[in-house]
Amino acid sequence: MLTLATLTATLLLASSVAAASTEIPTLNGPRKIGKRCTGSITSLADVAAAELCTTIVIGGFTVPAGQTFTLSPPDGASVSLTGAITFGFANWAGPLMVVTGNNITFNGNGHELVGQGPLYWDGLGGNGGVVKPAPLLRINMGGSFTNIKVSNSPARAIAIGGNSLTVSGINIDNCEFPGYFPAGDAPNSKSNGAAAGHNTDGFDVSAHDVTISGSTIKNQDDCLAINRGTNIVFTGNTCSGGHGISVGSINTNTTVSGVQITGNTVTASTNGLRIKTDAVATGSLVSNVVYSNNKLSGITQFGVLIDQSYPSTLGTPGTGVVINTVTFSGTNTIAVGSAAQRVSVNCGSTSSCTGAWNFGGLTVTGGTAGVIKNAPVNGGSF
Ligand SMILES: *[C@@H]1O[C@H](CO)[C@@H](O)[C@H](O)[C@H]1NC(C)=O
Ligand SMILES: *[C@@H]1O[C@H](CO)[C@@H](O)[C@H](O)[C@H]1NC(C)=O
Repeated sequence: MLTLATLTATLLLASSVAAASTEIPTLNGPRKIGKRCTGSITSLADVAAAELCTTIVIGGFTVPAGQTFTLSPPDGASVSLTGAITFGFANWAGPLMVVTGNNITFNGNGHELVGQGPLYWDGLGGNGGVVKPAPLLRINMGGSFTNIKVSNSPARAIAIGGNSLTVSGINIDNCEFPGYFPAGDAPNSKSNGAAAGHNTDGFDVSAHDVTISGSTIKNQDDCLAINRGTNIVFTGNTCSGGHGISVGSINTNTTVSGVQITGNTVTASTNGLRIKTDAVATGSLVSNVVYSNNKLSGITQFGVLIDQSYPSTLGTPGTGVVINTVTFSGTNTIAVGSAAQRVSVNCGSTSSCTGAWNFGGLTVTGGTAGVIKNAPVNGGSF
């Protein structure tokens, strides 16, 4: 008969054997078998022991300046926050926090990742001035990542590099007013009259099978920028103050395929919906981008801009990135300001913008008409 002591010893042996078992590669890195225990983290010194456990609880603490909080929980682990994580100030490249792993359930419970952006911001972002750590958070995992606030990122906020991931209930706020500091939309003493926050992308995505939903993004750059990947869904999110929802910019040897932008609200942004591909890029493809039921208003430059001349705007377009099939379905409405163009498409040739370009579900009002060059656009009211 198996006694409790024998059983316990057997289980302990089994778990230590499992922990040492060979690593099997998966989409999000090697398979990692955990122990059934709860690890708690209240400083970086706790991380190594805690990430042996399948339940990890992170209390509030400050990550020392110049260090990355990297968390690699075992497969299937649950991770939760019980307090805010503040990242100490230092002018270095970052990233500030990285989460990896397979089938991880990460719940922020509404707690905050405090980026302390105002200590860095100088209106130049990643283009100059002091070095700013980016991204604030890199999500390189599969599973679900939910319910967290990310405030005042020094530069880019969240980079997504995982596979099979749902991200929801994220509140990115680069306009938080902490004490006497000005928010990212306002100039500060170092920004020469420009908005202090710059290059503060909300979500940068280079990933497969990813859904981002129910999130709010207040920033000073792209709300979403999809740089590469397949099967990417962005739905039910609210963006304001930034540069709108983007595919791109797309550089050489890159594929983005299967994008759904659905049911989002965008207000007070320079652009609405964009696809931007590098003029000099070669061997790349953007295919099957579908916009459905989005509502945008207060757009100051372009309602829709599809441009193969990036980084120029409506410059000399390249032909090395094929954009194949762009669809506006359902009812997308965009209200642009008086100085804005409603819809502009700038393709390098009819062989770099191919497939069906059905814009039937697009209505844009205000501003002036744009120019459609080398693209088989049909339908819509703009
Ligand atoms: C994911 O992890 C959960 C436990 O958190 C487990 O029940 C489930 O089977 C795992 N799914 C896969 C596909 O491994
Ligand atoms: C693009 O991919 C091709 C084929 O894989 C490779 O030979 C080439 O070096 C790549 N170019 C760049 C700039 O990465």
